[in-house]
Amino acid sequence: VSPFLVDSFHRRHDYLRISLTERCNLRCFYCMPNEGVELSPAEHILTNDEIIRLATLFVKNGVRKIRLTGGEPTVRKDLVDIVARLNQLREFGLKSIGMTTNGIALHRKLPSLIENGLTHLNISLDTMDPYKFEIMTRRMGHEAVLRSLNAALASPQLQSVKLNMVVIKGLNDHEVPDFLELTRDQNLSVRFIEFMPFTGNKWDKAKMVPSSGLLSHIEAQHPLVIKAPDELNDTARSYLIPGYKGSFGFISSMSDHFCGSCNRLRLTADGQIKVCLFDAKEISLRDLMRGGATDAELEQTIGRAVHGKKEKHAGMEEIDVTTNRPMILIGGVTQFK
Ligand code: GTP
Ligand code: 5AD
Ligand code: SF4
Repeated sequence: VSPFLVDSFHRRHDYLRISLTERCNLRCFYCMPNEGVELSPAEHILTNDEIIRLATLFVKNGVRKIRLTGGEPTVRKDLVDIVARLNQLREFGLKSIGMTTNGIALHRKLPSLIENGLTHLNISLDTMDPYKFEIMTRRMGHEAVLRSLNAALASPQLQSVKLNMVVIKGLNDHEVPDFLELTRDQNLSVRFIEFMPFTGNKWDKAKMVPSSGLLSHIEAQHPLVIKAPDELNDTARSYLIPGYKGSFGFISSMSDHFCGSCNRLRLTADGQIKVCLFDAKEISLRDLMRGGATDAELEQTIGRAVHGKKEKHAGMEEIDVTTNRPMILIGGVTQFK
């Protein structure tokens, strides 16, 4: 990667997460406050051309992996076109185009997304119980998500299909064995995610289920569980149950952060570069672009932002949830209309 994308701790940032919209067709409680979020005025959201300009710049500077997020990326009308245009960046070295989605509106769009270059798909699903789904997301749609998940698993062109489950104590933690069973006959990677604190999501340490405890439980049920190899920059630590086609893993952002190997940068839907999920600081690339900045000027600003990246997040009890924005506005997936 070019020096602009290397921070002062020598981390090389070759993974860009692009949030395409602040809107969502669900309202998961862990992602946004009860009362919803105030959306940016439409003219503040990056246009298709602006997204491609920045993506091109990042790829030319060494980004190899782009993941589309939201809000919920499938609610953006020009999603397929954006994927198709990103796909052309392969000639500059882009290797993978992923998307993280809640799956509600994915089913119909999936074939054209794949046809236009989508290679990696992560689907968020926290429960197998339609009633609980409604409680957690404040919307209906469990069946639609399952349909999308099955369609994804039946698409051999996708290089990976992962399922994200945010584990909340007393709410869905008893469903972990059911999610493991999904990996028995399907090449699916299920990730159990620790609940993270964001503005207005009522985070409480007591509701967070540390990965270490979950693993012990799983090992008691499946004594032959073995560690699977992880990629250098993976968020998840993966495991295999012998005889199962898929795998499972833990994303332990809270109890065992992976900041030391962090390779990711974020672009918010309203055009700010954000160098860490838990650092409230954001710098507007949109304003620079609209003010006529050259690519070289954009690179300088990106370089300064990356250089200011902290070594690690502050720790679960110290994370600043007063100025950092809710996950939906950072690049989670899930919430709002
Ligand atoms: P892959 O590209 O498949 O590795 O996806 P991912 O795990 O990086 O991203 P995804 O959008 O599927 O997010 C899954 C979970 O990873 C989120 O719920 C977060 O808990 C966690 N996560 C994603 N990005 C970051 C990050 O930059 N920092 C931290 N601490 N956690 C993150
Ligand atoms: N803690 C953990 N994961 C979260 N996500 C959204 N909010 C939180 C939170 N507070 C997850 C979504 C999606 C991924 C991008 O982030 O479920 O899978
Ligand atoms: Fe990277 Fe920040 Fe996430 Fe740590 S908390 S892994 S530094 S984005």
